[in-house]
Amino acid sequence: MSKKQYRIAVIPGDGIGKEVMPEGLRVLEAAAKKHGVSVHFDHFDFSSWDYYEKHGQMMPDDWKEKIGKHDAIYFGAVGWPAKIPDHVSLWGSLIKFRREFDQYVNLRPVRLMPGVPSPLANRKPGDIDFWVVRENTEGEYSSVGGRMFPDTDREFVTQQTVMTRTGVDRILKFAFELAQSRPKKHLTSATKSNGISITMPYWDERVEAMAKKFPGVKWDKYHIDILTANFVLHPDWFDVVVGSNLFGDILSDLGPACTGTIGIAPSGNINPERNFPSVFEPVHGSAPDIAGQGIANPIGMIWSGAMMFEHLGEKEAGKSIVDAIERTLAERTLRTKDLGGNADTTACGKAVADMVD
Ligand code: NAI
Ligand code: MG
Repeated sequence: MSKKQYRIAVIPGDGIGKEVMPEGLRVLEAAAKKHGVSVHFDHFDFSSWDYYEKHGQMMPDDWKEKIGKHDAIYFGAVGWPAKIPDHVSLWGSLIKFRREFDQYVNLRPVRLMPGVPSPLANRKPGDIDFWVVRENTEGEYSSVGGRMFPDTDREFVTQQTVMTRTGVDRILKFAFELAQSRPKKHLTSATKSNGISITMPYWDERVEAMAKKFPGVKWDKYHIDILTANFVLHPDWFDVVVGSNLFGDILSDLGPACTGTIGIAPSGNINPERNFPSVFEPVHGSAPDIAGQGIANPIGMIWSGAMMFEHLGEKEAGKSIVDAIERTLAERTLRTKDLGGNADTTACGKAVADMVD
């Protein structure tokens, strides 16, 4: 039987997305070659200001047919606020992928890398190494609610949290499976059942029910307020942390912030059933302030590629990229300016590609 060839939709987007994407592809190609992975890239120019300028919309009408059958989407960054408002550019592209491809898991690693100064005192590589799993489709970010009696003394607004059994159980299952696959086999749930007295006790109840199916996984829970404090005080306590849409949003920014620069953080928006492609993208945006200078850090893009390979089942190839990133960051001369080095985007990308083994 011939080996599967993965088809990846490549969308660089705007600004530094266009500069870091070639480095991401360079490293993916190097890892694919070393590990015998067969991968084909299809390039798309939509989801960018340039496309919008020509066509008056962010994406073609048939965008779903164009990228919906690919094994994954490798995405740079979108947004150019001086030319187009963010709600138009992001809602016209990235948010559509997340919603219409049912990417209900937002996954981000929190890992302190060599050569990256942590804002937390006395932490060294190895001390901080966990994942944040955020529910990405429901919860607090619902559009159920409204405003009544506007501009009167009786004016009121409501917005309801929506937790479905399907929605809660599927994110918990993903998180428990991830915990089970890791050496520490430890899951932490973010709650607030002391203050939010209906939905959060329900979330806790579903965590308990799911935990019974994973007897090998140790689990605990913290209220979100003390949990944020513990991310800063005891980041070494965590292995896999799962939260609702709002709590996960906060934790998935706080976690990577505890490990240094935005330039290296990767993320996945994942549809675990693989009914639709998942999107892998750096956490950072298009950085108009440094775009065009060739100084953007490509590590966030490259690391997102490693997550993509892992998602596709190519664990060895993915790991070889993360190892290469660690070795590159350990050398000051191979780092970009945001990390106190003097390498440009291409030099850093080439260094990682050379280190892949
Ligand atoms: P940003 O992440 O683009 O930039 C924030 C700061 O970090 C800037 O000073 C930038 O120079 C620096 N920075 C970011 N990535 C870097 C890298 N790889 N290397 C070195 N320095 C880096 O966030 P900002 O400025 O708030 O947003 C700019 C545009 O990007 C907006 O249109 C925004 O909506 C969009 N955006 C898009 C995202 C996406 O496509 N997923 C995510 C975040 C923002
Ligand atoms: Mg956020």
